[in-house]
Amino acid sequence: MDIRLMNVKRQHEAHAAEYEEAALRVLRSGCYIGGEEVSAFESEFAAYAGAEFAVSCGNGTDALILALRALGIGAGDEVITVSWTFCSTAESIAIVGAKPVFVDVSPESFCIDPDLIERAVTSRTKAVLPVHFYGQSCDMTAIRSICRKHGLKLIADCAQATGTSFNGERRGILGDISCFSFFPTKNLGCAGDGGMILTDDESLAGACRSLKVHGSGASGLEFLRREYEKRGEPFPENMPDGTSKYYNYLIGYNSRLDAVQAAILRRKLKYIDEFVDARRANAAYYNDALRGTGYTLPKESTGSRHSYYIYALKHRNAGKIMAKLTEAGIQCGVYYPVPLHMQGAFAYLGYRQGDFPVTEELARTTCAIPVYPELLSEEREFIVKILREADDE
Ligand SMILES: Cc1ncc(COP(=O)(O)O)c(C=O)c1O
Repeated sequence: MDIRLMNVKRQHEAHAAEYEEAALRVLRSGCYIGGEEVSAFESEFAAYAGAEFAVSCGNGTDALILALRALGIGAGDEVITVSWTFCSTAESIAIVGAKPVFVDVSPESFCIDPDLIERAVTSRTKAVLPVHFYGQSCDMTAIRSICRKHGLKLIADCAQATGTSFNGERRGILGDISCFSFFPTKNLGCAGDGGMILTDDESLAGACRSLKVHGSGASGLEFLRREYEKRGEPFPENMPDGTSKYYNYLIGYNSRLDAVQAAILRRKLKYIDEFVDARRANAAYYNDALRGTGYTLPKESTGSRHSYYIYALKHRNAGKIMAKLTEAGIQCGVYYPVPLHMQGAFAYLGYRQGDFPVTEELARTTCAIPVYPELLSEEREFIVKILREADDE
């Protein structure tokens, strides 16, 4: 057998003619940056996820950076997040000059433990940045209430959670501002890099729109005016105030979703519910077939409708299990093997091994197995057979 952990080629093949036709149309149009495909995808994705405004960008990491910048978060500020995530979550906080403050996750949900957030709040805390990890929704009710109580902004890292709902609503997973990734393997993935920011706040959306194109445009000018107001300084009198892209008001970025990606994403968006249902069906199959074994199986937490970007089981001997899977031709992996508080890039924060016991235990004991929508039933059966044999040994 040769079963890949993620298989984007199969996903493409399922509707290849439609995706290719859409991409070809863009190639022949000569309109490669912005335009109808990009703005239509923004509207359609906002409607799908239940937000007022959508701003597309180059990737999920940029979405986080733009969101933090739009909220005015920077040097001297702290943002509470998790160590049990992909590096972008905390990297984006550090890139804008703020300090990532880690807290542990819940061993059941693998998401931020709301009880630990409040203890990490200081006078410098500006925001909480929870991650809907593996496609499981965080406890947004608890997190929203902590943010309200302490006057903090809520930035949702939804990179792994397109199609996830909380309390029966897709918009239930959103924060004041929310960031998505369309990396090819994601629940909704393009043929390259792509990202999206969602918000109901028009001025935040405007700030992101400006920041992603070098701080230009009318919304960049508005943002700058607000900055001066906040500082109590008079706005400079002779500032050129054009609204074209050659008038720059903020130090921004070049981060755009290109039209080819938008065209493909629009076509894939039509199938996203099918994709998520198929992921959930695969997860349900594993949960049934492996009940009563030595594996601790993932389960949905209260209110969460999991989209299973990743299906990870826990085993006290995860290393041995992964070796057996690999030997049988089944690709598997740890998402992610080194928690962020143990990464060299974050060594300057001064955390030590033992600071986040649940996170560290998950890095030692979890193993992700294939759960993608196009997985064949005979492949699922084979995976279960090998897992059962490895557990018995
Ligand atoms: C939790 C999380 N946040 C952020 C990102 C960043 O997304 P991108 O790879 O599109 O920059 C990812 C992507 O893997 C992710 O898994």
